[in-house]
Amino acid sequence: MNAEGLAVVTGASRGIGRAVAMELAARGFDTVATMRDPADGAGLSGMRVERLDVTDPSTIRLPDDLRVLVNNAGVETDNLPVEFMAAESWRKLFETNVFGLVEVTRRAVPLMRAGGGGVVCNITSSSTLAPVPFLGTYRASKAAVTAIGESLAAEVAQFGIRVIEVMPGPIETDMLATSDQPAAAIEHAEYRALAEKMWEGRQGIRDSYTSAPEAARRIVDAICDDDGPLRYGCDPLSEGDRQRQVGARDAAVVLVITGLAHTALHVADVAIIGVDGVVATREALEERGVGFLVEGVADLAGLRTTWFADPWENVFILLEKVSRAARAYYRQY
Ligand SMILES: NC(=O)c1ccc[n+]([C@@H]2O[C@H](COP(=O)([O-])OP(=O)(O)OC[C@H]3O[C@@H](n4cnc5c(N)ncnc54)[C@H](OP(=O)(O)O)[C@@H]3O)[C@@H](O)[C@H]2O)c1
Repeated sequence: MNAEGLAVVTGASRGIGRAVAMELAARGFDTVATMRDPADGAGLSGMRVERLDVTDPSTIRLPDDLRVLVNNAGVETDNLPVEFMAAESWRKLFETNVFGLVEVTRRAVPLMRAGGGGVVCNITSSSTLAPVPFLGTYRASKAAVTAIGESLAAEVAQFGIRVIEVMPGPIETDMLATSDQPAAAIEHAEYRALAEKMWEGRQGIRDSYTSAPEAARRIVDAICDDDGPLRYGCDPLSEGDRQRQVGARDAAVVLVITGLAHTALHVADVAIIGVDGVVATREALEERGVGFLVEGVADLAGLRTTWFADPWENVFILLEKVSRAARAYYRQY
């Protein structure tokens, strides 16, 4: 897609949304930065600022010549164990992250169809790729957007509308700053030890934060990438997560675990992600007769000695080895 035509960004008052609006405008898109309180748009130049609260349909007014929609507005909630998360918190989060996004999108589709096509870009989260404890509500809301986006992509490709999903890792914004503390789960004695372990892992990734402008550059690259895939990362960590999942599919039954702090997969001593993304323990996999592969993976990985030296390079080396081992294993049958 050439950088021209009209682009609307939701939640552009700050963080990733603001940076994406600035990047779109800088590249030549006629940009509308939408936000709950337009006063927050003071300081944004080279674009229009309009009020849009995704949870209030009366504020959702999209221009007729809409060509790009970036569904960025999002909220998080206290990181609690599922058993302690109140129904009201689930509803509140889904109101913005899912129902609000759907309402904006369903109004955008007929406009883009009438205009001959466009791009819908949903901002989800790389956290959906890993079984992170205490993020069930947030991850569920983002995973819902993933499923909606997949169906939508299949429905509207015929109208020249491309639907993509960008799955950020840790991007330096208010949201990241708010979550930079032990999970609220730590208040619950049953989960304290796990919450402490998670917090330890979380602190280990501070060096890997990506700035919002850098993430925005990658998001706009993805929007302009006509022949690209459905899903993108927008920072080194999320790219690594995405590649890992692709590798997991490749290898049929895969991956690893001790010490992969940021994804919290270290909650089990040895765990495996299967094709369906379900995490199984060594015992469960051995019961299913894949003990060989588990051992093979553990042997090949050499994780404990090399993982932290260059984590992302190791993900790729590891994946290659794992894929090869898995292929060899399955060739026996
Ligand atoms: N930062 C990360 O590390 C990270 C990682 C993965 C995914 N994400 C996702 O990236 C997106 C942007 O996050 P961020 O880090 O930039 O968060 P942020 O700094 O907290 O900004 C969130 C934005 O969403 C807006 N918003 C919230 N509720 C809204 C509503 N009902 N209608 C319209 N706008 C609303 C906020 O507006 P107000 O200013 O009015 O509150 C703000 O502009 C979110 O979808 C988030 O889930 C972020």
